[in-house]
Amino acid sequence: MTRTDKGYKGIGMEGTIARWYANNTGKDLSRFAEQTRAVVARAPAGADLLEVAPGPGYLAIELARTGDYTVTGLDVSTSFVQIARRKAAEAGVQVDFRHGNVSAMPFEDASFDFIVCCAAFKNFSDPVGALREMHRVLRPGGRAYINDLRRDLSKEAVDADVARMRLDPVNRAITRYILRSVLPRRAYDKRQFTAIISHTDFRTFDIHEEPMSLEIELRK
Ligand SMILES: C[S@@+](CC[C@H](N)C(=O)[O-])C[C@H]1O[C@@H](n2cnc3c(N)ncnc32)[C@H](O)[C@@H]1O
Repeated sequence: MTRTDKGYKGIGMEGTIARWYANNTGKDLSRFAEQTRAVVARAPAGADLLEVAPGPGYLAIELARTGDYTVTGLDVSTSFVQIARRKAAEAGVQVDFRHGNVSAMPFEDASFDFIVCCAAFKNFSDPVGALREMHRVLRPGGRAYINDLRRDLSKEAVDADVARMRLDPVNRAITRYILRSVLPRRAYDKRQFTAIISHTDFRTFDIHEEPMSLEIELRK
């Protein structure tokens, strides 16, 4: 029997932690520009697009800025929903940031053409439930794109990634430790992700291994 509940309930990203994360990730928006390009390459113009677990909302806001999509975001952290709504208002773009759990989404069946989820899937306590919900809220033919840290990343990949961040020695050591020893414990490798998908109705999928991450594409 495959466990559908990881036991791990996620770090409560509220209050100070949410504000710290928003400030820190907001210092370098290049990651979100890269993710925007990945979505634009896959999602047709005019799509109803859902970002699951957008956190502070940088990617959802960039996607709305393209003018090509109607964008909704769903996050379990009330702090992040507030931060993301404020940032969208400051950016002058329309994103419907909603509060809720990916495993029990507050949306009708077949509401979206495309779902994106970055740097968050490993945090979900019910990964099978999360994918089943993504399948439910997608329209027939709709696609999901998930990008997250891979469990079996190498020391060399982490060192190269951290070197690119140009951090001071203390932050470099902390970041290297977190990437090598903390986050991978919650993450999946390709075989584990394939097993999770096998418990859902997604039949068409591709899992691509990057040095630091897995890119998962699913089609309903
Ligand atoms: C590391 S942050 C990533 C945020 C953003 N995607 C990014 O790339 O910066 C993980 C996010 O997952 C959200 N999250 C965790 N469990 C969730 C759940 N069950 N349903 C919805 N969001 C969840 C957290 O609130 C947080 O915003």
